[in-house]
Amino acid sequence: MALNKIDDRADSAPQVFWHAGHVTAGERGRQFGQRAATVWLTGLSGAGKSTVACALERCLVGAGRAAYVLDGDNLRHHLNRDLGFSRSDRQENIRRSAEVAKLMNDAGLIVICAFISPLREDRDMARQIIGERDFIETYLSTRRAVCEARDPKGLYRQARAGLIAEFTGVSAPYEVPLQPSLEFDTAVHSVQDCCAQIYRHLAPRFAREAA
Ligand code: ADX
Repeated sequence: MALNKIDDRADSAPQVFWHAGHVTAGERGRQFGQRAATVWLTGLSGAGKSTVACALERCLVGAGRAAYVLDGDNLRHHLNRDLGFSRSDRQENIRRSAEVAKLMNDAGLIVICAFISPLREDRDMARQIIGERDFIETYLSTRRAVCEARDPKGLYRQARAGLIAEFTGVSAPYEVPLQPSLEFDTAVHSVQDCCAQIYRHLAPRFAREAA
């Protein structure tokens, strides 16, 4: 395998070739004093994914770690602006975003992903792209009724009024993770508590011998 081939997934592009570089993912991670990972936050709209993601990034960067948030809403403004909320568009949204997270992990960063990612099959695809060892599935299990009462963007109200089709939790499914690495109900756990527990889960990656 070439020195910096990003992983051993099958090549799917004919007549294009992998050009090997001279720096490994491990070397890049060591420069940041960490083994990279992707914290994948999944849960309903209003469960607190973006809030926890940004607070965790703040906490990691404050502690001298290299971290970056990929947020579903934000990526849909640019990279994924051509995608809607059909089954296939959501799958493509997750595929592209997981590929970006993988590249950022390869660059040595801790990536915090905030996507509803409602289907197990799509989250499993993300896990495959990123790699089992570096994929930390984190379920924000906040109940629909709580998310709907919060309704920070007014979208549940619009979905109930029939103004938004295929709205997750109202007219489109959300499949609960079966074995998430971490799980928090943000109606019970504070944002600071969630961040502290995720940080503790990541801490072994900051040990000298881990990177
Ligand atoms: S995902 O299902 O493809 O993972 P993603 O996390 O990127 O979704 O985007 C979800 C955000 O898009 C929500 O927080 C909400 O602001 C907005 N949104 C707009 N329409 C929908 C919809 N039909 N279902 C869910 N979220 C929607």
